[in-house]
Amino acid sequence: MPKTALITGIAGQDGAYLARLLLEKGYTVHGTTRRSSMPQGHTRLEALGVIDHLHLHESELTEASNLQRLVGRVAPDEIYNLAAQSHVATSFDVPIYTTDINALGPLRLLEIVRTMGGKCRFYQASTSEMFGNAPAPQSEETPLNPRSPYAAAKTLAHHATLNYASAFGLHASSGILFNHESPLRGIGFVTRKVARGLAHIALGRQDKLLLGNLDAVRDWGYAPDYVEGMWRMLQHDSPRSFVLATGEGHTVRDFVEAACRSMDWSIAWSGEGEHEIAIDTKTGRTIITIDPQLYRPLEVNKLVGDPSLAERELGWTRSVDFAQLVDLMIRHDLHEATAR
Ligand code: GDD
Repeated sequence: MPKTALITGIAGQDGAYLARLLLEKGYTVHGTTRRSSMPQGHTRLEALGVIDHLHLHESELTEASNLQRLVGRVAPDEIYNLAAQSHVATSFDVPIYTTDINALGPLRLLEIVRTMGGKCRFYQASTSEMFGNAPAPQSEETPLNPRSPYAAAKTLAHHATLNYASAFGLHASSGILFNHESPLRGIGFVTRKVARGLAHIALGRQDKLLLGNLDAVRDWGYAPDYVEGMWRMLQHDSPRSFVLATGEGHTVRDFVEAACRSMDWSIAWSGEGEHEIAIDTKTGRTIITIDPQLYRPLEVNKLVGDPSLAERELGWTRSVDFAQLVDLMIRHDLHEATAR
């Protein structure tokens, strides 16, 4: 019997890649998107050529009764809860909304799964942000120390997922995913902002790029590899939490430098802190400056994950390294900017 999956937040980066993966595996795939009074284009689902093969439903994680009817109708074998307010910086401005979607949303789904007999497997999108400034590398055993409304809400949902597994015997797993990127990444996240910004500067569409903290270290992997990990978690004999990461850390500055290398663009940094700039060495033009408004009220300095448990237990591997990731994002944004 082909399986049925329900993906909340299917129109996001991970939702789109996961939908494609599950369709390739023969699943019937349902997904929720946000309500909107304007017709929404689902550009990622269109870009991957999957939109005509999906069953899309407008539904919000804030509305329990609507979710309950939806889950009852779809009767999924697996639910992947990817819907979220996913911007860490934004969560400081909208903490209550963030908590409703990111903490209570998963709880509503867990309650629905439990009251419907608990047969449906459940994946919760947890995050390395939950570790805060705990020393790297972080693993499943690292104590959680959330430093934003986003991370605090995700921490509640993480614990709830594991509690529902132990208390009620649900197959509910929590994937602690470190940053994962792709050409489908939202333009507010730093990797895509850099790739797209540099492509636009190269084509004369933009003067310069404004960035925040260049010293933050992140563990950046390739999103399609990570959705494969989500699926493997739900096929595993027993539920638990798994870290998905590359094990390699790079600063935001490293990312910018790798992006420039991909474009054969030589830059030089000068100044410090808020006054740091990057100059195009050929023209002497300043192409990057710092906007202190982009600093966060609390920063997470260094996230680098240890994926050995997932590698061992799930046979999870990565197909793309850091240099390849940066290069494929740059190629995509150069192509897209040229085509416009
Ligand atoms: N967004 C953004 N914009 N971040 C910047 C900028 C900028 O202009 N300049 C520097 N940064 C720094 C941030 O301060 C942060 O330390 C780092 O770049 C990465 O920021 P984001 O790309 O916004 O991602 P994130 O690490 O906060 O969160 C992402 O990864 C998490 C997993 O660890 C999101 O996808 C989360 O939803 C996810 O849980």
